[in-house]
Amino acid sequence: MIPNPPANEEHEVFMRRAIELARHGWGRTHPNPLVGAVIVENGQLVSGGWHAQDGGPHAERVALAALGRPPKPGATLYVTLEPCSTHGRTGACCDLIKEAGIKRVVIGATDPNPAHAGRAVDVLRDAGVEVVVGVCERACRDLNLIFNHWITTGTPLIAGKVAVTLDGKSACRTGESKWITGDESRADVHHWRRYFPAIAVGAMTVLRDNPRLTARSPDGEEWCPVRFVFDGLLRTVIDRHLPSVYTDEFHERTIVVTTPHGGLGYVRKLREMGVQVWVMESGSQRVPFQSFRQKCAEERIAGVYVEGGAQLLSELVRARQLDYLFSYRAPILFADDKAKGMLSGLRPDTPGHAIRLEDTRHNTFGDDALLRGHVVYPEKLLLDETVFSLR
Ligand SMILES: NC(=O)c1ccc[n+]([C@@H]2O[C@H](COP(=O)([O-])OP(=O)(O)OC[C@H]3O[C@@H](n4cnc5c(N)ncnc54)[C@H](OP(=O)(O)O)[C@@H]3O)[C@@H](O)[C@H]2O)c1
Repeated sequence: MIPNPPANEEHEVFMRRAIELARHGWGRTHPNPLVGAVIVENGQLVSGGWHAQDGGPHAERVALAALGRPPKPGATLYVTLEPCSTHGRTGACCDLIKEAGIKRVVIGATDPNPAHAGRAVDVLRDAGVEVVVGVCERACRDLNLIFNHWITTGTPLIAGKVAVTLDGKSACRTGESKWITGDESRADVHHWRRYFPAIAVGAMTVLRDNPRLTARSPDGEEWCPVRFVFDGLLRTVIDRHLPSVYTDEFHERTIVVTTPHGGLGYVRKLREMGVQVWVMESGSQRVPFQSFRQKCAEERIAGVYVEGGAQLLSELVRARQLDYLFSYRAPILFADDKAKGMLSGLRPDTPGHAIRLEDTRHNTFGDDALLRGHVVYPEKLLLDETVFSLR
């Protein structure tokens, strides 16, 4: 006999455990999603698993295998993402669930792909399985910012990160920006660097800050994502002392994104050093972001974390190409008109013409506040054409 469904709070307790397990795959599953699953028998968690890497077994399969025996009658499977109902590289999880005799499945988020959303729910219900949908749905959806975008658009999620003062400044008038936010915020940035398969910065940030652009975890582990440098004229290559992203032990993970106007000699120099270069067709010294997005899609790079500076981020916004924004705000004020603002290049006439963030999350890190969300553009984006005239 199947016991009564547990109360909603119990569902949430077990789903939160599945979310924790899903996070073990943080940054390792692209372009696949992060997924966690647990099996509960008589109110006890008896097994769990997560999707560890692209091409690897799905979380449901791992949790069932870890149990080492058939689930007891009345067992419940909790899974953060709707199980797959079609055969991919690993077989449909819906079939696996039915074969295992599981009679209740609790799902966090439905499949973000509109063509598949709810399909597994129907398949399982048709097979007599009780299905509960939407437990901790917001948190489960938030696990897969990148996958959700990739699977619905076929292109990478382009996310920006800024660290600003209370009055919205991202650098002093001298260009100095180290450090606006505190240690806790910067540790969170490293956490997100580990999540995204690629980081991007503008040429001026490389020249001024000489950043390492790796993800350093508190236990000292260092991981290097793909590192994009946007440099339409290859000005970062001119100096004899090259930035460390071209010379360090991870330099083969660096990709310079440039135009034919940058000079073939510099392109050759970079390639001879082992640095990759994407030369993108352009009528100006700026790489068209659409072409960049397309090239990332071809290379199966599902997400790009753009760390600035202000000019690169502003140009992305002006081109409607920024999909998501992380904004860390520190409790300090520069109160200087000439200090660098976070973004520029628009001239909304009314707040109604503003860009908005939606589906926002708020966190605090020490004294700083993080606000992040999906970028929503107004129907008409009013540009300030006096800004960013090309040399
Ligand atoms: N507070 C923060 O979160 C934060 C984060 C990062 C940086 N910063 C600070 O910001 C400052 C640098 O920012 P910035 O606004 O001056 O410069 P930036 O955005 O780092 O770099 C701008 C340069 O990137 C290149 N670029 C931009 N879009 C491009 C495109 N579509 N195609 C090809 N190249 C492109 C251009 O080079 P060309 O002009 O040669 O074409 C442009 O001049 C530094 O002071 C840094 O410390 C602050």
